[in-house]
Amino acid sequence: MPRILILGGAGYIGSAFLDEFRRREWPCRVLRRSDADYTRFPVLLDLLRGERFDLLVNCAGYTGKPNVDACELARADTLLGNVTLPLTIAHACAETGTPWGHISSGCIFSGAKMRQPDGSHRVERDLMEPAIREQVESAPERFEGFTETDEPNFSFRNGPCSFYSGSKALGEEAIAGIGSHYVWRLRIPFDELDNSRNYLSKVQRYPRVYDNVNSISHRGDFVRAALDLWNQRAPFGTYNIVNPGRITTRQVVERIQARLSPGRSFEFWRNDTEFYATAAKTPRSNCILDASKLLAAGVKIRPVDEALDDALQHWRPEKS
Ligand SMILES: NC(=O)c1ccc[n+]([C@@H]2O[C@H](COP(=O)([O-])OP(=O)(O)OC[C@H]3O[C@@H](n4cnc5c(N)ncnc54)[C@H](OP(=O)(O)O)[C@@H]3O)[C@@H](O)[C@H]2O)c1
Repeated sequence: MPRILILGGAGYIGSAFLDEFRRREWPCRVLRRSDADYTRFPVLLDLLRGERFDLLVNCAGYTGKPNVDACELARADTLLGNVTLPLTIAHACAETGTPWGHISSGCIFSGAKMRQPDGSHRVERDLMEPAIREQVESAPERFEGFTETDEPNFSFRNGPCSFYSGSKALGEEAIAGIGSHYVWRLRIPFDELDNSRNYLSKVQRYPRVYDNVNSISHRGDFVRAALDLWNQRAPFGTYNIVNPGRITTRQVVERIQARLSPGRSFEFWRNDTEFYATAAKTPRSNCILDASKLLAAGVKIRPVDEALDDALQHWRPEKS
């Protein structure tokens, strides 16, 4: 049985890892900052020297509540949680020979890559720009997702970006080449459990919905795929872990209407100007990610349509 250490196990993503460890019957130690402040290098190093773990899973980080706008104000916390902490973990794990996995985010990209007639690609940052949107709808096969070798284009290096996205890209850059680790990129988590962090709950609760095109990750599928990579001893490195495909918010709304709320009408923001003037402070990432590397590693993950339909079919509203 592998022995796992998890940081941030009480969080939204961490709790899904705990469920999966229980299902696999993998013993796991959950470390919280209130037990031992793992954000301090000597504390984490002592712990890893004293007890051997086959894998450390880092689900700790600063996401901003209720959304990423909060990171614009709490910049020091955002950097500490998303850059300094992964760097601390990387060095402590390298020092003790502990393999580890880090939860990063697909939000370090914006848009998609549009294939040109000569076979080259042009990055389109804004898929809602009317001329581009028209092509996304008429020729979707021309729009390809970002791969793990593409440089983030929604980052401090390639702005504009939100402070949160910038910190996640910088976190990946900071740990690159240190020890043996996975970077597991998650994108807009959802599942069947109603929760303020669940994309499907958010869409149902927004007074108005912001339409865009995205890749998204079923929370349970993400966790299983991340652990399968390690369990199958796939090469360390970065993996986009999304349900293959893409979906617009409008399509998500149509499915919610069909499955959960027949007759309910949803209002949409008319354009970015209206959305950013009223509902959001910092730019939002919307993007398509390519999951080919994950699939080529032999990891199974459901297509986005199947995962979404399954979540809506088994929807469990939050108890009031
Ligand atoms: N949720 C999403 O939509 C989403 C999308 C893409 C990527 N991610 C990434 O997935 C990871 C987990 O996200 P999550 O949604 O599960 O977050 P969460 O629910 O806020 O939990 C994060 C955990 O991080 C720990 N932590 C360590 N340092 C922290 C700090 N300075 N400030 C706040 N918390 C800190 C806390 O654990 P203790 O205090 O108990 O130790 C907390 O429970 C993050 O790296 C996030 O960037 C999340």
